[in-house]
Amino acid sequence: MKPYTNPFVVGKVVTGKAFADRKSLLKELLLDVSSGQNIILFGPRRIGKTSLVSELLKVAKSQHHMSTIYIDLLKYDSIEQIAGQIFQQLAGTIDKAVELARSVIKGVSLRLDETRLELILPSDEDLLARVFSYLESKSSDQRKLVVVFDEFQEIEIISPDKIRMLRAVIQHHKNVSYIFTGSKQRLIQFFTSNKHPFYKFGKLLHIEKPNKEEMIDFIKENFTNTGMEITDNEAATIVNSTLNLPYFTQMLAHEVWNRAIMHETKTITHKLIHTAVSTINQRLQVEHESLWSSLTKNQRTACKILAAQQNPYQQKILKKYNISQSSLQQAINSLLEKQIIWKQNGKMEFLDPFFWKWIKFQFHI
Ligand SMILES: Nc1ncnc2c1ncn2[C@@H]1O[C@H](COP(=O)(O)OP(=O)(O)O)[C@@H](O)[C@H]1O
Ligand SMILES: [Mg+2]
Repeated sequence: MKPYTNPFVVGKVVTGKAFADRKSLLKELLLDVSSGQNIILFGPRRIGKTSLVSELLKVAKSQHHMSTIYIDLLKYDSIEQIAGQIFQQLAGTIDKAVELARSVIKGVSLRLDETRLELILPSDEDLLARVFSYLESKSSDQRKLVVVFDEFQEIEIISPDKIRMLRAVIQHHKNVSYIFTGSKQRLIQFFTSNKHPFYKFGKLLHIEKPNKEEMIDFIKENFTNTGMEITDNEAATIVNSTLNLPYFTQMLAHEVWNRAIMHETKTITHKLIHTAVSTINQRLQVEHESLWSSLTKNQRTACKILAAQQNPYQQKILKKYNISQSSLQQAINSLLEKQIIWKQNGKMEFLDPFFWKWIKFQFHI
């Protein structure tokens, strides 16, 4: 019998069986893209934006016969490269992409980029208008198109002078739905500041934590499907001790699974989970120390107060930590900006549960 492989995936995009929950959000997104709605998907890094849009594109393609294009803006440094990538994805093969691009634009060339052939489009004032108008002209009621721009705030670095033009070209598209994702506060400003060209461009959706029960079931299923035994209680411990943040839940589950194999046991115990937590803490120690040393004194104080889960603005807390309310407020705002914490149900919560554990351990909280 083929040995099982670890079912828990960390850091890579997850789809299909490795993808948990998000059913209602997926449903809503599918309805939206079917009607050509533009969407801005906002959430902290590692919450699952890329995985969600990848799953969405998979379903849109296979079940709704839509065409899909996915552009990760962190990967490109010019509009010409992005345009080339759009043709490559539309055509499927590089030969067809060249042919297709040449039918739309003059002066298309190929470049060998290390080991990959890459399509390069000529720098031209009309390039954006031509490429995106072509997309709209090739889409129809029967064959809709979804274009995802992942980490869209990067457009400001890649091509700040083309942002206005991009909006002007795509705003009237009926059969193409655009999804912009991002994690930075900057992205929200794009779509909510009336000074920005993308003001009110689409529906703003926040991606939150997955449903906890679904996540517990997901953990249980993946252990049992690979020949292990785990109780509801232990599965809940894995989810709860990682604050149900999917990246970290997968990280812990991955480690627990590996430890079980190493100890030649099939039963997932509390002790096994505990050892896995310690292993991860050790592994992340350098990262946590360097993050801590990058913080200001007030930000560190704010971290300690929040790590103890105290109401930060009580007089006795301010006095104990010798910090003024306004300084604390400022420090908390910086931690929010740095995505070290976020607001959940009116409370501040750490976005890295292991960093939270590290602070508690270091300062005996
Ligand atoms: N729906 C999900 N089910 C299971 N794991 C997930 C899910 N979403 C995210 N993850 C986990 O979190 C990690 C980061 O997800 P990703 O989609 O890259 O986040 P983002 O794009 O928001 O930074 C993934 O590699 C995976 O381990
Ligand atoms: Mg991402």
